[in-house]
Amino acid sequence: MTGQPFEPTARVFAPEALGSEVRLRGWVVKSRSSGGILFLILRDRTGVVQVTGKRDALGSAAFDAAEHVQVEGSVRVEGTVAEDRRAPGGREVRARSIEAIDAGLPFPIFADQTEEFRLDKRHLVIRSPEHVATFRVKAEFLRACREFLDREEVLETTPPVLSGNAAEGGSEAFQFDYFGRPGYLSQTAQLYLEALLPPHERVYALTPSFRAEKSRTPRHLTEYLHLEVELAWCDLGGLVDFVERMIVDTLHVLAERRPKELELLGRPPKELLAIEAPFPRIRYAEAIERLKVAGFPIEWGADLGTAEERALTLEQRTPLFVTHYPRELKAFYMLPSADDPRTVDAADLLGPEGYGEIVGASCRETDVKRLTDRIVGMGVDPAEYEWYLDLRRHGSVPHAGFGLGVERILRWVLRREHIRETTPFPRTPARLTP
Ligand code: 4AD
Ligand code: MG
Repeated sequence: MTGQPFEPTARVFAPEALGSEVRLRGWVVKSRSSGGILFLILRDRTGVVQVTGKRDALGSAAFDAAEHVQVEGSVRVEGTVAEDRRAPGGREVRARSIEAIDAGLPFPIFADQTEEFRLDKRHLVIRSPEHVATFRVKAEFLRACREFLDREEVLETTPPVLSGNAAEGGSEAFQFDYFGRPGYLSQTAQLYLEALLPPHERVYALTPSFRAEKSRTPRHLTEYLHLEVELAWCDLGGLVDFVERMIVDTLHVLAERRPKELELLGRPPKELLAIEAPFPRIRYAEAIERLKVAGFPIEWGADLGTAEERALTLEQRTPLFVTHYPRELKAFYMLPSADDPRTVDAADLLGPEGYGEIVGASCRETDVKRLTDRIVGMGVDPAEYEWYLDLRRHGSVPHAGFGLGVERILRWVLRREHIRETTPFPRTPARLTP
């Protein structure tokens, strides 16, 4: 709105604001009236403030109207800043006028409603203090990642989300009809980042990825935000160092810039500041030995599932790199290890405290013959990957990259029980609306 200066509620708490006139607007968090005085807690993007309005100051009709504003109704307020020890922050606004913008219907969200109901009402539930804090931390994390990547001279690029190939393996790709032929929703931007690599050398993309996994677990979404980086002239050691630097840097930034939100979510910022490089690094073969000692009936060659990843990190406070996985377990584009062709130069970063994989990283195969053999080995016609194979025919160089699941890392950082709490409108096998 123009012409009318409104102030953020946070301004009420500035030292010089005491005794001054303010105009506020926002949403009602709580409301009660007694003895001709109305008490409102008003929220805007900067915080909350108590507003009191007396019947004789507002006028009887205006007082009655203000009394009928519901929780989450929107209002404009004019009044004077005064001291009040019982109010949040020790101040309140004594209103001269309280005007409803939209008085609202009774707000349907209460404590102790079922999770199903809360997911149906997700569009309203996301106004909760926990969700507000979570999405501010998420925004800050994305900003910190971009700042870090910018300092590292990694270029942001914009690969497509609609594609003619299913890059990470056909079974988990969402297929759709693209004007009469099959199209796929992207599972990874990696192949496009590899194409963008030669002229820029260091590229990244932040795009949604889609996985048609039916598994209902607390760490899988069917749509998630994927931060992917691709670096030329990089080997496994360099890649792991890069991931580690990025995570330590961004978590420290969160601790410095979002301490209030972290505290509200039960994650003391000092715990994030305590996360330091180097993260422990073990080979897959050693992970298998540790799991055997812990009583898992597991042999070399088996995939590490939720239970195994959990067991490896439950007692840890710092993430753990597991490297050199058997090639059969990993994607076709990964580079076989020089010292053991049964394994690939890959690393998964596992979140501590049992949170599981948060980053998947690897060096890429650059030999066109071996790459073609792997594609054939998957039972796929190499013609489908012709453009990707072409990259190996025109100045291919050693390169490596990784993908970080933004909601996965936040689930760990904010210690959320379920990954869906880190995204406003979670997409899972059972949920496509709201
Ligand atoms: O390990 P993934 O499948 O690796 C790739 O897609 C590579 N092409 C990335 C690359 O090298 N550019 O996925 C990467 C990360 C995982 O470590 C995990 O954090 C996240 O994506 N992820 C999911 N997050 C939420 N829900 C799911 N269903 C996810 N699947 C993977
Ligand atoms: Mg992976």
